[in-house]
Amino acid sequence: MRRAGPSTIASAALADLDVRFLGARVGRLASMSELHNSPEPIAYNYHVVRQFTLMTLVWGVLGMGLGVFIAAQLVWPQLNFDLPWTSFGRLRPIHTNLVIFAFGGGALFASSFYIVQRTSHARLISDRLAAVVFWGWQAACVAMPISYALGYTTSKEYAEMEWPIALWVTLIWVLYAYLFFGTIARRRIRHIYVGNWFFGAFIIVTGMVHIINHALIPVSLLKSYSMYSGATDAMVQWWYGHSVVGFILSVGFLGMMYYFVPKQAGRPIYSYRLSIVHFWAIISIYIWAGPHHLHYTALPDWAQSLGMVMSIILLAPSWGGMINGMMTLSGAWHKLRTDPILRFLVVSLAFYGMSTFEGPMMAIKTVNALSHYTDWTIGHVHAGALGWVAMISIGSLYHLIPRLWGREQMHSIGLINAHFWLATIGTVLYIASMWVNGITQGLMWRAINEDGTLTYSFVEALEASHPGYIVRMAGGAIFASGMLLMALNTWLTVRTRRDERVPQAAPLLAS
Ligand code: HEM
Ligand code: HEM
Repeated sequence: MRRAGPSTIASAALADLDVRFLGARVGRLASMSELHNSPEPIAYNYHVVRQFTLMTLVWGVLGMGLGVFIAAQLVWPQLNFDLPWTSFGRLRPIHTNLVIFAFGGGALFASSFYIVQRTSHARLISDRLAAVVFWGWQAACVAMPISYALGYTTSKEYAEMEWPIALWVTLIWVLYAYLFFGTIARRRIRHIYVGNWFFGAFIIVTGMVHIINHALIPVSLLKSYSMYSGATDAMVQWWYGHSVVGFILSVGFLGMMYYFVPKQAGRPIYSYRLSIVHFWAIISIYIWAGPHHLHYTALPDWAQSLGMVMSIILLAPSWGGMINGMMTLSGAWHKLRTDPILRFLVVSLAFYGMSTFEGPMMAIKTVNALSHYTDWTIGHVHAGALGWVAMISIGSLYHLIPRLWGREQMHSIGLINAHFWLATIGTVLYIASMWVNGITQGLMWRAINEDGTLTYSFVEALEASHPGYIVRMAGGAIFASGMLLMALNTWLTVRTRRDERVPQAAPLLAS
């Protein structure tokens, strides 16, 4: 048990403000006396939050840098170097795993550990377990790319890890769940803030689909086969795949949004009631949408149609959440003129709205007949991945970093501003080029002559895509250079000497 000094008392006082402030109605739900009479000061575990924050930046730079490299390989195939481990086929899953699990996952670990402590007024239940989760996750993030580079893969997208790594990830995930829910159970106020509901659903569903999709039969130390076969295997895989999109890339980051948007805007969440409806609606619908990844396949037609209908319905809760986030700025829009962190958060919501409109449209079978297998899907993915996932993480981390290291603000607001424009321009170039490519490819592949023969060969469609690949690579490089600015700004913020720290921020160093 840590000794509670004056610094920890101050941090408890700050935490009190958190819950009352975030949702106007929470004040009523959690009795006010409970909030005021915090029995004893709390020393939060910020150490693990700081560790995850730094590693999120490291993995972000590496994962996106690799994204730029594989984008360059699609422009200049010579960059495959004729070596197995530098080929596009092996580097692509390393990119996806690093950006989703190491970068996105890191941002979710950092923010969920920060938010659950502050809104529960409780320290994480075990520092030792928190350290195991941190180091265990980093070990998995290192093992995945090494094994893929060496050619060990299950070949299931976003679930490429071979069975020993999958087992290890399961163990770490269970410990994470225990830490998170254990801290909720130990909370000092009755109300569970809505952001924690989103994190809770993300943790439970991700664990569930990971275990079910990784039901593997090992045949050697590094080779296994899926327990399922044929269309069943495909369905389980995309039930998992879409749940990764839904519960990691959407629901998890919505938990982040519900904390950092109100905090940075200095306004309570627009409608707490809407956030509850949003939660229940989104978690009950997302899980059914997976079959839209398998249109026109051997999957039974009714299952495809069900996936399509559920995807269209999904537009409603997605936009409900997006509007709730946006409207939180009511009365604070003027802050966008001067606050680049808020700009990151708001623009991320705009891209979230855009990709969750596009997704349901692409789920319509006739639209999917054009978009599937084309770069349109890649454009949609990165509208969500860069515009939403990366931007909300970046904005949230800029909010967090000074608080975690006891600084008044980031070292350079100018650099955050520059980063904002690099990220926005990079995302727009990436997705616009992929939309043009995707529609061009879809139309060229389906064009037929009067005698029924194909109008264009595959290579002609590929040639038509080349300019788009150059623009995508440039957009990606611009986005990734923004990440380097962020790493530099963070370094300059963190390394500030002790005596330069602002006194009122010092309490946050308590743990
Ligand atoms: C209402 C919400 C959404 C719906 C209904 C939806 C729907 C779709 C559809 C129909 C596809 C194309 C499937 C195919 O033709 O193979 C797709 C692909 C994808 N979407 Fe979304 N989407 C939504 C939101 C998002 C968001 C917010 C992200 C965040 C990054 C995202 C990430 C992805 C990814 C990664 C893929 C590619 C999967 C793959 O083939 O590897 N989606 N989505
Ligand atoms: C500088 C930033 C990035 C660049 C240049 C980049 C580039 C690429 C490239 C070239 C591909 C392969 C496309 C293809 O096979 O035709 C790809 C795939 C993918 N990337 Fe990125 N990426 C970046 C950032 C991200 C981020 C931040 C995320 C997620 C948070 C992400 C998630 C994905 C996913 C899920 C796929 C697979 C899409 C699919 O199979 O449909 N990327 N990326």
